[in-house]
Amino acid sequence: MGMIETVRSVVQFKPLETDRTARRLATAANVDDLRAMARRRLPGGVFDYIDGGAEDERALDRNTEAYQRIEWQPRVLRDVSNIDPSVSVLGLDCSIPLILAPTGFTRIADPEGELAVARAAARAGIPYSLSTMGTRTIEEVRDAAPGGQHLFQVYTWKDRGLVAELIARAADAGYRGLLLTVDTAVLGRRERDVRRGFTLPPKIGLETIVDGALHPGWTWKFVNSEPITFSNVAGRSVGDGGGTAVSLAAYTAEQFDQALSWSDIAWLREQWDGPIVLKGIQTVADARTAVEHGVEGIALSNHGGRQLDDAPAIAELIEPVADAVGGRTTIIADGGIRRGSDIVKALALGADAVMAGRAYLYALGAAGEAGVDHLLGQFRAGVERAMALNGTPTAADIDRSIVRWRGGPAER
Ligand SMILES: Cc1cc2nc3c(=O)[nH]c(=O)nc-3n(C[C@H](O)[C@H](O)[C@H](O)COP(=O)(O)O)c2cc1C
Repeated sequence: MGMIETVRSVVQFKPLETDRTARRLATAANVDDLRAMARRRLPGGVFDYIDGGAEDERALDRNTEAYQRIEWQPRVLRDVSNIDPSVSVLGLDCSIPLILAPTGFTRIADPEGELAVARAAARAGIPYSLSTMGTRTIEEVRDAAPGGQHLFQVYTWKDRGLVAELIARAADAGYRGLLLTVDTAVLGRRERDVRRGFTLPPKIGLETIVDGALHPGWTWKFVNSEPITFSNVAGRSVGDGGGTAVSLAAYTAEQFDQALSWSDIAWLREQWDGPIVLKGIQTVADARTAVEHGVEGIALSNHGGRQLDDAPAIAELIEPVADAVGGRTTIIADGGIRRGSDIVKALALGADAVMAGRAYLYALGAAGEAGVDHLLGQFRAGVERAMALNGTPTAADIDRSIVRWRGGPAER
């Protein structure tokens, strides 16, 4: 064989990827890569709104850092030829133990917004949560992903009539559960937004024009798609984002009910027959009280570090809460999930499933709907790989014996 033939036989040329989005995504090996892509494509104010947290962002940082402090204690020589990561939680079938968390104003990452995310979730066989502050309506999401399993996230407006109406619409549209967010009596101080004077929808000021010119792809789509509003509640109250730019802090201070308390759970129960999850539980004591109030689930969450800085890191909460109330209510760990292996760690500590927010927003900002498909494929592969390498072929096999806190005592 001549030299050229030898080289030809060992070098396999990759077929040229013609789709630009697919080409870009092929280089995104993980959530950090998708985040970096989103940062390049989105105007600074939009990226910071998604990426940022409250005050010094310690709660935000610690949510991810805590998962990095968990080490495996992997078991070997167990038959892992068939891996099944599926779980059933709250009557929902999850192909992996993941639910997409509600995020307000999703359309600023990509004009398709919530519809793109709901479709990708349905294709991946995982539930999607629509926020009260969503920029697509309850019915649009149902129509976009009719086969999907949707949850509706409730913020309690002072106007309870409006909340009751939203819940009735979610029931009519076949939504499968409610997430009542309980960590947002007032809005956390997100200082990146304060510095940038960020409003929803983003105001077109001088900085926005300069920033927009530096991000022509986003600006073109933003200008050429229908205006972004809080579609579900637009037009229902003064200064409600139905066209005018508002600061989120001012808006929530005016609209949200700061008097919300445990006694309101009974009111919610009267409005809704299906499962209720309290999103934003951050202590064992409140987890116990939630169980006393008979809720089907709790989401351990500090709102992705966007509300109270120095709130507990979610991964550190899972084990004590599971010890106190595990088996009596569904435990969802929400915050800091950046890899499939984080999902397996949360389950090992005692969660029944996890939720993730930023990961899919980065993916959406990086490459639209295809980006979210890419992310969910990577999450699935990551969950399956961690299960195979830990010797836990089914979700039920994942238990505390496979993890330990770094520096803690090893399993004997
Ligand atoms: C841009 C953004 C908007 C959010 N909007 C809402 C919301 O409208 N309602 C809500 O309950 N939680 C909201 N959250 C919190 C998420 O539901 C979830 O708790 C959080 O993103 C989890 O942390 P993670 O981003 O590290 O996954 C939002 C989070 C982000 C990043």
